[in-house]
Amino acid sequence: TLEGRGSKIGLRYFPVLDSTNSEAERRIASGESSPFAIVSSCQTNGRGRLGRVWQSNSADNLYLSVGFEPNIPPQQLQHFTLWAGICICRQLQGFVPKAPLKIKWPNDLHCMGRKFAGMLTEAKLDADRIRSIIFGLGLNVNGNPNDFPDEVRPLATSLHAIHGETLPLNDVAAVVICAIEEAYQTCIQETDTTDKLSDAWEPLDALAGQQVTAIQQGVEITGIASGIDEGGALLLLMPDGSQKAIRAGDVTLKK
Ligand code: BTN
Repeated sequence: TLEGRGSKIGLRYFPVLDSTNSEAERRIASGESSPFAIVSSCQTNGRGRLGRVWQSNSADNLYLSVGFEPNIPPQQLQHFTLWAGICICRQLQGFVPKAPLKIKWPNDLHCMGRKFAGMLTEAKLDADRIRSIIFGLGLNVNGNPNDFPDEVRPLATSLHAIHGETLPLNDVAAVVICAIEEAYQTCIQETDTTDKLSDAWEPLDALAGQQVTAIQQGVEITGIASGIDEGGALLLLMPDGSQKAIRAGDVTLKK
């Protein structure tokens, strides 16, 4: 189905893996030609951001990674994850027309305040060029969010829970992989996607106008989320009217 959609990505499926990102990394290291996608129904060591675990034991959900070897300067892919989030949300919206899919900066896909997917991008650099970049996505498709551990359950959802109907897993996988390829092409074909990025980001921004808290160098910063800057950093409007850019880490919504 990928080829039928005009994709150049080779697909490899595994019933069980440690982590699709790790498998992609091993394949690149062993000289396999890219781009390729690794899809699995179960991960025994699914990794999230900031050293977290990505629970991956439901064959009703998707665990996938796409590996590329661009050999270009890192600046050109600095917005790749944000673009991937944009392209994925736009495409998945077709499956769940009634509920708005959004991106919670920087790596989460959200719907009505709950997370249904997480993105993990890992790149290898050499002499200031990106030799390889692996984009991983954990996407709750038909899984039951009640099966998640206590800590994440209240904040998690799935496309099925959003839509009320079972979605075709293979079609969802194909659409998502094509969206990742589209995001990659956008970044490598255009030298500067900055203006386009903020326009594309705005309608999909889950945090816009909300009060959020970020921890920067151990200090809590609370402000009103007001979009992203040209570097992809989250902008916070502070109580004194100044603006602060949050470049890394996580933010939480202030209740
Ligand atoms: C996050 O929200 O912290 C990011 C989660 C990324 C999980 C995906 S599942 C497929 C790929 N393989 C992994 O080990 N992690 C990513």
